[in-house]
Parts: sequence; structure tokens; C-alpha cells
Amino acid sequence: MLMNDYIKRSDMISCLLCKDAPCSNACEKCNPSDVLRSIWFDNQDVASLKLPIDNPCRDCDGGCEKACVAKDKVRIKNIMNILYDEVRPVTEIALPTDENRLKCDMCGVPLENPFILASSVIASTYDMCARAFEAGWAGISFKTICSLDIHEASPRFSAIKGADGSIIGFKNIEQLSDHSVAENMHIFRELKKNYPTKFILASIMGKDEAEWESLAKECEDNGADAIELNFSCPNMMEGGLGSDIGQVPELVEKFTRAAKRSTTIPVLAKLTPNVATMSPAAEAAFRGGADGIAAINTIKSVIGVSPYTFVSAPAVKGKSALGGYSGNAVKPIALRFIAELGQNKTINGLHISGMGGIETWRDSLEFILLGAGSIQVATAVMQYGYRIIDDLKAGLNYYLTQMGIASVKDIVGAGLESISSTTDVLERDTILFPTFDTNKCNGCGRCVISCDDGGHQAIKFENRIPKLDGRKCVGCHLCRLVCPENAISQSKKRIGL
Ligand SMILES: Cc1cc2nc3c(=O)[nH]c(=O)nc-3n(C[C@H](O)[C@H](O)[C@H](O)COP(=O)(O)O)c2cc1C
Repeated sequence: MLMNDYIKRSDMISCLLCKDAPCSNACEKCNPSDVLRSIWFDNQDVASLKLPIDNPCRDCDGGCEKACVAKDKVRIKNIMNILYDEVRPVTEIALPTDENRLKCDMCGVPLENPFILASSVIASTYDMCARAFEAGWAGISFKTICSLDIHEASPRFSAIKGADGSIIGFKNIEQLSDHSVAENMHIFRELKKNYPTKFILASIMGKDEAEWESLAKECEDNGADAIELNFSCPNMMEGGLGSDIGQVPELVEKFTRAAKRSTTIPVLAKLTPNVATMSPAAEAAFRGGADGIAAINTIKSVIGVSPYTFVSAPAVKGKSALGGYSGNAVKPIALRFIAELGQNKTINGLHISGMGGIETWRDSLEFILLGAGSIQVATAVMQYGYRIIDDLKAGLNYYLTQMGIASVKDIVGAGLESISSTTDVLERDTILFPTFDTNKCNGCGRCVISCDDGGHQAIKFENRIPKLDGRKCVGCHLCRLVCPENAISQSKKRIGL
């Protein structure tokens, strides 16, 4: 039972994921840009099943490719034909006809699917939230509301990019909403009036106990479905706010209790990853009456120190500052904290709203398996737009249907048992040897270089063919990870050393 991955992102590396895509505009029979985006976001089966039954691409004149604006034009016809000839015939199920499997809730408040926008610029105006709702997002965590005078620096973002030009890690030095509380309350009222079934999570930050209390109440009075307490922004100009609170359990407890005092709707504490472990703050939020935990906020970081000016990025008139790191690069760190929360018996029962680096339905599934009951996304939306909800929903729905899982709620935390916080529990008497697929191997020898210099000199290279020396191999699998052709798998076992 596998989702197919015949086509890799690298096969369509030149695809620009255009707005109002010229390839789709040039085609009357199908929607190539939609298909390419689905492949980009790990959703190949669904992409193949969305195509018209008969392949109109085989004999067409490739107008889509001619219209492609990328310098190295994407070979769309070829990709379409692979979807028709190789992917679709091996799909195991038809496209699900409804999204009932995705229905869930946040602390008892219904969500039509687990996906909501994470608090940030993407959910900071009426128009943006409305467009996200129309696109299919179940809800929003609104940009953090406060009474502070917010004045942002320019530029305020920087990024580390991958070979295909996409953002892998993203640094921001942004603070909170720069609209007044009254303006934001007006937005809540309008959103609730026009989108009554969509979920509004009001992210707030108070300056003191009284303000945590009053902001929470005001948000409830104006239509919020739940409150998210921002104990985790690492970019505040003033000390004693944001992640300065999240690092002190006593403050987390005090301010959670303050917000709970004035509200009847669920309250989530949004916690900082800038700590050794998240449990002390999560347990403090629990004691303060929190109904859930949201995590992670961004990780304090420095990136891009210029070799010429010696200033790191983003440089604001020759100066920079530590700022919050997010995006796909932080996913492993986020998952580590989600697993810690999911395994914590003291806070058992609290809703976990997971985020940090989620781009695809597979990313979101990992969070769900480790205990997240809802999913938030910020950086991927900043990079790719609200439209990624299509593939988040379609991919997760297809997976659940394929696996025969009736509801996404049934697998929340299903992967927790496999994770130990220490390595002493692992069995150490089995070696899994790598196996080389000679048909796929192109003889580049990268596996040999890595094994020689980063492993145990266990691969011989004769006539450009890698051969394993089983006496030396320790089964570390570095070779498998560096192979550019995915020509190495694990199979042979040596048991009982
Ligand atoms: C530009 C930007 C602004 C953000 N602003 C807020 C904010 O106002 N309040 C908040 O709680 N989190 C804020 N965040 C953090 C996100 O909500 C989220 O926790 C974090 O970015 C990790 O998710 P991601 O990897 O999907 O972006 C911001 C993130 C970014 C990138």
C-alpha cells in the first residue's frame, strides 16, 4: 500500500508553479499546472486520477510546453504520459468522493479538516482570511493581536534555498499584528458573519495579567472559537514578552490562568522551541487550565552572514538580530517537540495543534501520527500560496481511504509508541546490509566515497560497480542516503552477532 512516486520533484525542477499558469491556459483538455503542483506536493496518485479518462496528451501538439515560461521548459507531455501509463494503472483506489474522513475538531469545536493557517502575515486581514477560507482551509490562527505599538523593520525576512530555488529554511524578525485591537475585532465579526462554519483561533499577547484576561474576553465576544496564547514569539522588541514568557513555566501558568478566567471558549498555549524540553511549560499551561498546546513557534537563529559586509541577514542598515527560523528545515525539531508533548502523560488529553515546516500532506501526517489533532501552516503558504490546501486535503484524504482509516482522528498519536527519548532501548544485534540495484546504479561511485571517508570502507568499486564487503559493513546506510539514483535498498540481515 504505497502512494506512487514515479515522478520526482527533480524531474520537473524547472517548473515555476506559476500564477495563472500559461501551460493550463494553453490547454483545453486538462489542467497541467494543477497536475504539476500535485506532483510537487507529493500527490501523484491523485494527480493521475484527476486527468481525463482518455489521454488527450499523447497526440496533442504540446501547446502547454510551448507556453511554459521556464527557461528550461518543463517536459509536461512526458510527465502526463508517465501519469497515464505508469501511475494510474497501479493506483489502488478511486478518488474519494467526499472529505468526511478529514473532519475533526479542536478541543471539541468542529473543524471541516485539520488544516488551519498559522498565526502570521498570511492570516492578518479580512481579505486574506476570506480567501483562505474560500480556498478550503478549515480555519485561521489570526496574526497575534496586542495593544503594543508595532513598527516593523525592513527587510524582515531571509531564507536558505535549495537547488531548485525553493525555500528550505526561513528567518523572520517580524513581531505582531500592527492593526489596533478594535480593527482586528471588526475583522473577527465580519469573518464570523460571512463564514460561520470556519474556525477562528485568536492569537493574543498581553503585557500583563489584566491584559491577557481582557484580550481573551474581547476575542470571544467578537466571534473567536478559541484563543491561542502567544508565549513564544522570539522577535519582541521589549523584554519579558513572547518566548521570554514561554521559557518560564510560572509565567505560562499565571497568564494561562488569567486568559481562562475571562473566557468560556478553549484556550491553547502556543509554546516556544527555544528550550531544552517543552514539558515544563506545557505542564504549567495545563495547571493554568489550558485546553490545548500549539507548537512550535519559530526557532531563534542567525543566517546568511555576508562575506563582504560581515552582517547577517536580513540586514537593516548594517545591523541584524536573532530571528525566528521556520519552514521545512525545522520539521524534525518540531516533530521532536510534538512527540514529547504526545508522550507526556501529565498533559494527556490536551489537544495538540502541530506546526513547523509542514508543506505536504505527508508532513502533516507525521505530525498527526505523533499526536497532533490539528495542523497549522505558515511558511509554506507564504512561499506557495493558499492553494496548497488542495493537495494537503486531497493527499491526506486519499491516504486515509487507501489505508481503510475511517477518520483522521483514529490515527492521532498512532506513531508515538515507536519513539524513545533515549537510544538505550534499541536492539543492537542485527545488521541490515545495503543491496545495490545494478539496473538503477549509474556507476557514479558516490556511495564508495562516502563509505571510504564517512563510513567503514566496506564498498569496493570495480569497473564502476559497487560491491559490498560484508565483513566490514556495519549497516549504517550512509551509502543509501547519498545515492543520487535511489539504487540502494536495505535487505539482507545478519542476526545475532
Ligand atoms: C513571517 C512570520 C510571522 C509570524 N508571526 C507570528 C505571530 O504573529 N504569532 C505567532 O504565534 N506566530 C507567528 N509566527 C510563527 C508561525 O505561526 C509558526 O509557528 C512557525 O512559523 C512555524 O510554522 P511554519 O514552519 O509552517 O512556518 C510567524 C512566522 C512567520 C514566518
